[in-house]
Amino acid sequence: MTPGAAGTPSAGRNGYAGWPRSAGLARFYELDVSVEGDVEPVTGYFLNIQEVDRIVRETAIPFIDQACGRSPEREPAELLPSVARAMAPALAGRLASLRWRVTPTYSVELESDQMNRVVMRQRFEFAASHRLHCPTLSDEENRRLFGKCNSPNGHGHNYVVEPAVAVRLNPAGPPSFTLEALERLTGEAVIARFDHKHLNEDTREFATIGGVNPSVENIARVCFDLLAPAIREAGAELASVTVWETEKTSATYPA
Ligand code: NI
Repeated sequence: MTPGAAGTPSAGRNGYAGWPRSAGLARFYELDVSVEGDVEPVTGYFLNIQEVDRIVRETAIPFIDQACGRSPEREPAELLPSVARAMAPALAGRLASLRWRVTPTYSVELESDQMNRVVMRQRFEFAASHRLHCPTLSDEENRRLFGKCNSPNGHGHNYVVEPAVAVRLNPAGPPSFTLEALERLTGEAVIARFDHKHLNEDTREFATIGGVNPSVENIARVCFDLLAPAIREAGAELASVTVWETEKTSATYPA
């Protein structure tokens, strides 16, 4: 995505580190390309991955590069259908979806059978403590079921929350729902409510009496229920919320 010293793309020699090679003040974007089609019976191949790479480099990257130069104020969601249309005819299979990871936490995804909408995802974090405990079970049953997670005074996590919002595209301009709205609404509905709290002690949603056990599954569902009305009011639709309790443990609601 970055011109070399002479203003021409720098191909690079390190396939692992990416192509073109970054030079100077580089942008770093990632594109996830999903292609559907039939496997050829003799070779067992559907599509040579190098063909996908080549098509991305010849169609998507120049398009995004030009847009960054000419209209850096445009929303990535607004550009995504044009990127997909530039790529699709060159692919041997059907372009099923295209996800542009604009930053390590923010992405927009287009499914080619719904070209009039994108799914916007942004990650957030909050730090909180919790205790897994069911008041209807005995102390012994709680200890057996939840182990150390039943420790009486709780323990902490740095939770990561990722809402996935279906945003309708506007053919005449930028979509009405933006990343700014997603950050503001998630901040108000979720982060302000749970950050630096003891979920069982300090929140209505996870209170020992009247709340639900603060498992990662329940946290994902509660975040969805808190955020969905605000997103709807702002003109978009919350598709799901994923919550990571650790890097290896997450839950998505609805599944
Ligand atoms: Ni825990």
